[in-house]
Amino acid sequence: MTSGNDHSGRRSAAWFGLDGKLGFVHRSKMYNQGYSSSMFDGRPVIGIANSASDLAPCNAHLRQVADAVKRGVLMAGGVPLEFPTVSLGETLMRPSAMMFRNLMAMDVEETLRANPLDGVVLLGGCDKTVPAQLMGALSVDLPTVMVTGGPMLNGKFRGCDAGSGTHVWQFSEEVRAGRMSREDFATAEACLSRSAGHCTTMGTASTMACLTEALGLSLPGSAAIPAVDAARYRIAEAAGSRIVAMVDEGLTPSSIVDRRSFENAVRVNAAIGGSTNAVVHLLALAGRAEVALSLDDFDALAADVPLLVDLLPSGRFLMEEFAYAGGLPAVVGELGELLHRDAATVTGKSLGENCADAPNWNTDVVRTRSAPVHDAGRHTAVLRGNLAPDGAVIKLSAASEELMRHTGPALVFDTIEEYHAQADSPDLPVEAGTVLVVRGAGPAGYPGMPEIGNLAIPKKLLDAGVRDMVRITDGRMSGTSYGTVVLHVAPESAAGGPLALLRTGDRVTLDVPARRLDMDVSDEELRRRAGESGPTVPEAASGYEWLYRSHVRQADTGADFDFLTGRRGHPVPRRHL
Ligand code: FES
Ligand code: MG
Repeated sequence: MTSGNDHSGRRSAAWFGLDGKLGFVHRSKMYNQGYSSSMFDGRPVIGIANSASDLAPCNAHLRQVADAVKRGVLMAGGVPLEFPTVSLGETLMRPSAMMFRNLMAMDVEETLRANPLDGVVLLGGCDKTVPAQLMGALSVDLPTVMVTGGPMLNGKFRGCDAGSGTHVWQFSEEVRAGRMSREDFATAEACLSRSAGHCTTMGTASTMACLTEALGLSLPGSAAIPAVDAARYRIAEAAGSRIVAMVDEGLTPSSIVDRRSFENAVRVNAAIGGSTNAVVHLLALAGRAEVALSLDDFDALAADVPLLVDLLPSGRFLMEEFAYAGGLPAVVGELGELLHRDAATVTGKSLGENCADAPNWNTDVVRTRSAPVHDAGRHTAVLRGNLAPDGAVIKLSAASEELMRHTGPALVFDTIEEYHAQADSPDLPVEAGTVLVVRGAGPAGYPGMPEIGNLAIPKKLLDAGVRDMVRITDGRMSGTSYGTVVLHVAPESAAGGPLALLRTGDRVTLDVPARRLDMDVSDEELRRRAGESGPTVPEAASGYEWLYRSHVRQADTGADFDFLTGRRGHPVPRRHL
């Protein structure tokens, strides 16, 4: 434990340890918060980067979580200083929260570096907030622990569990098919959100919480604990205490995460049936951490990993059951030698040590490898072909077996609005075998790569009993979605990808076993079409949208800004007085 008057080597000493005018100014203004001088006597100064916001309902309770972290920091002899970060509410932000992930990462990175901090606890929860904070923190490389906000309690509708996202998509299809009344649909709204916390399914927020734990950047067991469980506050307190020790130990993210950590995260993502969004986020995080990770790694590394966690949208249960079953440590236990057990973590111990003898209290929820939800091979597969030369992904655990090899005529839409306007028309030229395509939904084109991929099944097919069909987009889909949907096509149509050359009526072949996605159009014809004008991309001449469109990279490398990859460290900036 550290306390007392030792400023030795600590970054905060360059502010609070100074004599004279500058030290006076740095300390004096802090006293207006009622702190005594002993707060700045050389104790480690711990930032608490809080993304609490009324506009990000999944993160609103992080104010209370921050109090628990502060308690832990104080108990261990550190000084907790909480500050707000940009926050991204998945359900409200337009055109998509993803457009602002890199902005939030920049905010976190610059705020950490500019201030007298020796270490940081990151508080995030909703989908983009966790990767954004981690991206910024990895580039700064101060000692870092993440505390995620935890999921809501299970949704309950008419006596049954109902999961965030997944059941919304199901219910709205039922309404369109005339099997659910609008009144029941309205009643379900409140039933799905019973408490503070993020989505209850294995959507992107739950996935990223689990992968943060798998990367070794949060305390073991923390991902699954419900937001309102007292255990969430105890683990937040423990994180506050642990970060103080990490500052003393000099335990930075670069001494924790390496290729082994990312391989573990990729494999855990397959075992939990994690969100396809994790592919984009992990690639961006690896870029920040200067770890070589490619899109193809997601397919290769996951190939022998069975689906063990039986949660919606790939399975049956919700995050509450996952927590009570033992959470991620139970998964790590079941995966055994499929993970690098020697990978480092924030505890100072290895992942394997953290999870040694981790109990699995419910093998219906966290299956054993001998009785998995699905055998290996139902992970997120990577496809290539003349429609996606740089790759595309498909989540096999959420897709239909009978559509794994499928050829059909394309029905192409340049915008999602165009599709929505026609989806319910009885005249839509669509059959069950049609391949629905919505382009213009990539990072630069939309902008912000929105989650439009799980296109609603056209009404006339829905009425005929069709529940799934092949859909293709250069956008993403919500981690709570399901269906045979090819996502993240790269390069996107707006960046000159061949998806822009596809026309309605062209035959498209999805061949998952061969990992192919092709259009049956000759190279010569494609060259001819390339000379014609394709779908236009709206342009922004200024503002953040201009910055985003000018510098965002494609999905296959994580959609980070081209100028943000890598670590820039935490040198103390020049003084201003
Ligand atoms: Fe925030 Fe799902 S909307 S986690
Ligand atoms: Mg989501």
